[in-house]
Amino acid sequence: MKLFIDDANIEAIKRLCDLYPIDGVTTNPSILSKQNRNPEEVLKEIREIIGEDGILFAQAIPTDAEGMVKDAEAIVRVLGKNTVVKIPCIPEGFKAIRILKQKGIPTCGTVVYTPMQAYLAAKAGASYVAPYVNRIDNMGYDGIYVTKQIHDILVNNHMDCGVLAASFKNSQQVLELCEYGVYSSTCAPDVIDGFVKNLAIDGAVNDFISDFNKLGQDKTMKDYFE
Ligand code: G3P
Repeated sequence: MKLFIDDANIEAIKRLCDLYPIDGVTTNPSILSKQNRNPEEVLKEIREIIGEDGILFAQAIPTDAEGMVKDAEAIVRVLGKNTVVKIPCIPEGFKAIRILKQKGIPTCGTVVYTPMQAYLAAKAGASYVAPYVNRIDNMGYDGIYVTKQIHDILVNNHMDCGVLAASFKNSQQVLELCEYGVYSSTCAPDVIDGFVKNLAIDGAVNDFISDFNKLGQDKTMKDYFE
């Protein structure tokens, strides 16, 4: 499963990319607005951090197909290859996804609350579809179940499109989708930080160090191997 950071904070992205095997960064208009800066500058800085091989997602703002296509063309012109344009899965969005597919611009059908939206986006030519796990839960449905259903629809119909699961509140949700084999997930920094936040892990590491210190205080392997 590919793993993305769902955030636009430069320091958080630098820190997480340094520590974890991250495939790229996803953004949306709300995430970008939190930075209170020019979104082009923010996205260019993120591109520099993740490099040209990292996958960067930026969302088109208009709600009509023509405007979405213009936004998409501007986004890929500035952010280069391995940039995916998020297009909301509304009727005009499906039209925009079809046009962008013909132009060779990769898209992610976003704002996905139902499997039908995902099916239509994939059929229109989206490379990714992004169900919002936690927001679906908050509507009284089962976000994990809906996401698995979307994964099955894509696989069983041999669609050239992968799930980009989004809107998580904890690592267990991410792990359950990983076990199921969904294509990718994007998580806020606090969710990624929670992946290995575990007193048992910290305790085991501290025990190893204090045991090894019995041989010689603060020595490491290289001190003995020299
Ligand atoms: O891009 C969609 C995703 O970021 C939504 O996450 O946490 O705002 O529900 P959240």
